[in-house]
Amino acid sequence: MTPEERQAILNDIAAQVRVCTRCRLCQGRTNAVPGEGPADAQVMFIGEGPGYQEDRQGRPFVGPAGQLLNQLLLTAGLRRPQVFITNIVKCRPPENREPRPDEVEACREYLDGQIAIIQPRLLCLLGRPATQTLLDPGATMSKMHGRVFERDGLYFMPIYHPAAALHNPNMRAPVEHDFAALGEFLKGRLQQPKARLEQPEGRLF
Ligand code: URA
Ligand code: SF4
Repeated sequence: MTPEERQAILNDIAAQVRVCTRCRLCQGRTNAVPGEGPADAQVMFIGEGPGYQEDRQGRPFVGPAGQLLNQLLLTAGLRRPQVFITNIVKCRPPENREPRPDEVEACREYLDGQIAIIQPRLLCLLGRPATQTLLDPGATMSKMHGRVFERDGLYFMPIYHPAAALHNPNMRAPVEHDFAALGEFLKGRLQQPKARLEQPEGRLF
């Protein structure tokens, strides 16, 4: 698939998300937030769900957590335009409550479609809801954060959510530690040719 073809499919998914009524979260939204980033991103970040600013602007991680994420990306050697950023639900839950299982399930097809098209080398799972949704329903962040896991040919790193550091100053160091671990892991890996998921022998890590 050419980059243009991949981009066209991502655009198509985004267009479906913007008018989606598959779950109750459509009722309270101002704008759905499909996600953004290059169609051939090597690293994908998956958060919990849009907050107030994201709902207003229709873009992911543009509020306070997003400002912090932008800084943390730099410490990991990444720039925001390089990475694809999205969430497990594309519409803002009321009062920023956690998305409910049926909402996550209803929205799952969009996320799976984005992952299938982008074929990232690493999925960074921001916080427990994203980690439980994509990696392990019984996941605990305290045990899994900052480590790389392989599942079904994909590589995942659960990372403490940047918002945790905003709400609790004691979380600042662990969040920074996770982004340092990410930077360490990616070092030297992003320059190499991208391994295709359908060729396991081509995997580089
Ligand atoms: N927090 C999230 O989990 N996602 C966003 O898009 C913004 C804040
Ligand atoms: Fe559709 Fe997802 Fe929004 Fe629910 S959260 S209405 S499934 S786009």
